[in-house]
Amino acid sequence: MKAFHITGPTGLDALQQVDLPEPIVGPRDVLIDMKAWSLNYRDLGMPHGGYYRNDKVKRDPPMIPLSDGAGEVVAVGDEVTRFQVGDRVAGIFFQDWIGGELTDQQIGSALGGAIDGVLAERVVLPESGCVSIPESYSFQQAATLPCAAVTAWQSLTLGGLQAGQCVLMLGTGGVSIFALQFAKAFGARTIITSSSDEKLEHARRLGADVTINYREHPDWQEKVLAATDGVGVDNVIEVGGAGTLEKSIASAKTSGRVSLIGVLTGQPDQNPSPMMVLFKRLTVQGIYVGSRDMFEAMNRAITVNQIVPIIDRSFGFDETRAAYEYMRSGAHFGKVVITR
Ligand SMILES: NC(=O)c1ccc[n+]([C@@H]2O[C@H](COP(=O)([O-])OP(=O)(O)OC[C@H]3O[C@@H](n4cnc5c(N)ncnc54)[C@H](OP(=O)(O)O)[C@@H]3O)[C@@H](O)[C@H]2O)c1
Repeated sequence: MKAFHITGPTGLDALQQVDLPEPIVGPRDVLIDMKAWSLNYRDLGMPHGGYYRNDKVKRDPPMIPLSDGAGEVVAVGDEVTRFQVGDRVAGIFFQDWIGGELTDQQIGSALGGAIDGVLAERVVLPESGCVSIPESYSFQQAATLPCAAVTAWQSLTLGGLQAGQCVLMLGTGGVSIFALQFAKAFGARTIITSSSDEKLEHARRLGADVTINYREHPDWQEKVLAATDGVGVDNVIEVGGAGTLEKSIASAKTSGRVSLIGVLTGQPDQNPSPMMVLFKRLTVQGIYVGSRDMFEAMNRAITVNQIVPIIDRSFGFDETRAAYEYMRSGAHFGKVVITR
């Protein structure tokens, strides 16, 4: 079968299409005929030798990339009870994180990081590492869910988001756009930033209440405060990392929450002052994707609220490298998908 390997830490040249033997189905496994995949910012780092070197999710090449994909079950092991042939499924990001609190062992089960990912025509996963995808979704739509959507879902639900509260999203990538859509479904007020007025206009069409161009307004936290009568927001979806954290902290209301998710600004050595966390009595919560229980709860909410993922562009399997390059360009709004 056709698959992709990351062959070394040498950038996109390390992304090679390979022929691999068909995977073998164990008694508790399902064999998935993969139909679509999606890219996450994390995947851009993997061909360059990893993702800021979290040892627990590091695996030496060659490895199959990507955490996110969806397909049809075409064979099941003798002891499988959760799925049958013909079911439409996606893998969960941490194969061993079913529910409860995340542990070190579970961090070591990240698809396309600690263990082989799903960018192959057929993939074997334990039945415990899969979820059914929303019935109304195409495989392409479902392929956008395992990392970005579950991350956005955990960020909003962990703090118990209430209708009428205000959420701030940074940028218009995969996590932020899912967070915007979920926050609207919760009845929250939403503020979103972007480098592009065109993307902000798109975000408004999706229901964003306040939009801020962070290029035009480098001190965007002042705009956030102005839009909230000087109070600040209840939850910041913090995907920027060290380069935006101080402004995110300034944007949060007293006793509010900063959901610490990403590293888009690079700059891991920058040290924002922790004092405002204390003075504002903030909860700064690290978010690491989510569990299978969270994924399933999110899918129920998606179905009831008829939330449809925003796919910016779709590439063929043989155009995988072009998909990575497009993702790297930052031109996208929402998700970039690969399809068979
Ligand atoms: N902790 C976790 O479990 C977890 C899970 C998923 C993702 N992440 C992290 O979250 C981040 C976002 O991931 P993603 O997959 O959603 O990325 P993505 O789709 O590639 O998002 C890229 C977008 O982020 C925006 N951006 C870039 N620099 C920015 C800045 N300085 N300020 C505000 N926005 C900025 C840009 O939006 P505009 O073009 O609109 O300016 C850019 O298009 C990444 O760092 C990723 O590693 C973490």
